Amino acid sequence: MANHALDRHLALIGFMGAGKTTLGAEVAERLGRTFIDLDRELEAQQRRTISELFAHGGEAHFRVLEAAAAVDALSKAPPAVVALGGGAAESATVRKALRDNAMTVRLEVDFDTAWERVQGGDRPLAADRDQFRALFERRKTLYEAAADATARDVEEVVLAAGGAVVESGSLEQLGVLIPGEGPVALVSDPRVQGIYGADAQMALGSRLASTHELPAGEQAKTVAEAERLWNELRLDRRGTVAALGGGCTVDTAGFVAATYLRGVDWVAIPTSLVGQVDAALGGKTAVNLPEGKNLVGAFHWPARTVVDPAALATLPETERRAGMAEVFKTGLLAGERIWELPDLELVRRCAAYKLAICLRDPLEQGPREVLNLGHTFAHALEAAGPVTHGEAVALGLLAALRLSELDTGDVEETLAPRPVRVDRERAWTALQRDKKARDGTIRLVLLEAPGKPVTGVELRDDDVRRELDRLIAN
Ligand SMILES: NC(=O)c1ccc[n+]([C@@H]2O[C@H](COP(=O)([O-])OP(=O)(O)OC[C@H]3O[C@@H](n4cnc5c(N)ncnc54)[C@H](O)[C@@H]3O)[C@@H](O)[C@H]2O)c1
Repeated sequence: MANHALDRHLALIGFMGAGKTTLGAEVAERLGRTFIDLDRELEAQQRRTISELFAHGGEAHFRVLEAAAAVDALSKAPPAVVALGGGAAESATVRKALRDNAMTVRLEVDFDTAWERVQGGDRPLAADRDQFRALFERRKTLYEAAADATARDVEEVVLAAGGAVVESGSLEQLGVLIPGEGPVALVSDPRVQGIYGADAQMALGSRLASTHELPAGEQAKTVAEAERLWNELRLDRRGTVAALGGGCTVDTAGFVAATYLRGVDWVAIPTSLVGQVDAALGGKTAVNLPEGKNLVGAFHWPARTVVDPAALATLPETERRAGMAEVFKTGLLAGERIWELPDLELVRRCAAYKLAICLRDPLEQGPREVLNLGHTFAHALEAAGPVTHGEAVALGLLAALRLSELDTGDVEETLAPRPVRVDRERAWTALQRDKKARDGTIRLVLLEAPGKPVTGVELRDDDVRRELDRLIAN
């Protein structure tokens, strides 16, 4: 079974009318992949419509052509989004090609919706409602068996492609959601362990091999803590590290998994808002050095990310505010007022947005740069005095909006950023040293409009300095 579509095709299967063509095109756009709609490919190849192919050679002949086209598309690089015709999964050869080369997502649709969408059209197998129902029932089982995941909308397809499940109550499903059958080492901090540890352990059942504790917060992200964890682990290569907690637990345990035995699987189970909308997504793991944050790390995509937004109910307000800054950033990048949504939908949208970008750019070589919106200023402020990351990001977004000449009303109302007391000169020096500064020019991520980020914007030092100064209290 495939856990994600990072390095393989994303195949969409499902009944006629499930929306494979429409959703497939949208998902491909978000992942920056080619979209292959196999029915259309086949029509182009054969120069006949599907109905004509059915009429001409009969269904059996059509299935042969369909299977050949599917196997051909699934055996080619680079990874694409491939929508299969409703009957393609009937072929054992196609099912094997799916297993070998794709992450297969079944698009769910109920019978009435499917019939509503296709009746009266020219699909050969959708002429009679009773026959359509019989086929619907028969294929349902087939799709379920062939699929690695199930989705109902674009967000769910993207989440599945990234290996993520976002559902209230998913924490209690850990036992089935953690891929594989090997032993699991559960890592968390004392607070999270106290609130969710027992539920997680129960859900893991006999797969739970050991439990481990990291200190809460940044104290977890040290080489010494990573070393302690390396020494405690008794996993073999089939084992999985499960990181339950905030971004610090996830970053450290993920890094330990990336390096232990040259890399074992890991599962991220973020419980803070920062973790659920940001830290646990995209495969970056790291610990800090005295010289700076996140200086030692690895790209190691989690085998699964289990996000239970219900866990946010116990999150302290200050931690929630830190996460809201990242939510707001995502809303600006996506051009949607995500920050106004209820928790489940808010987390789902943010997680899907970040995963789509990271699937496009898993090693941070390009498109992922947009995620730095507001962060160049934020890192400069954090380097110059006591300020929380959430406060710093809120101020950074304010500066980015001002420099983009966009309205700042929403950020002021939602995040209420207030100038902070930090050392101006240190902040300016840090900003110039920021990793985005190249050839003496500061390169920023700004917005042409909400939903339209622009990277590599070079501005005059005076303009950047003026905006930085406005974020600092006298
Ligand atoms: N790897 C990445 O791509 C990435 C992205 C963003 C941030 N990060 C990292 O994430 C870290 C920050 O993560 P964070 O903000 O989650 O901080 P954190 O991990 O310190 O968690 C914040 C606090 O909230 C507590 N907590 C977590 N979930 C809880 C819950 N459901 N109920 C009650 N308490 C809960 C934790 O015990 C902790 O005390 C930083 O080190 C940052 O570098 C990494």
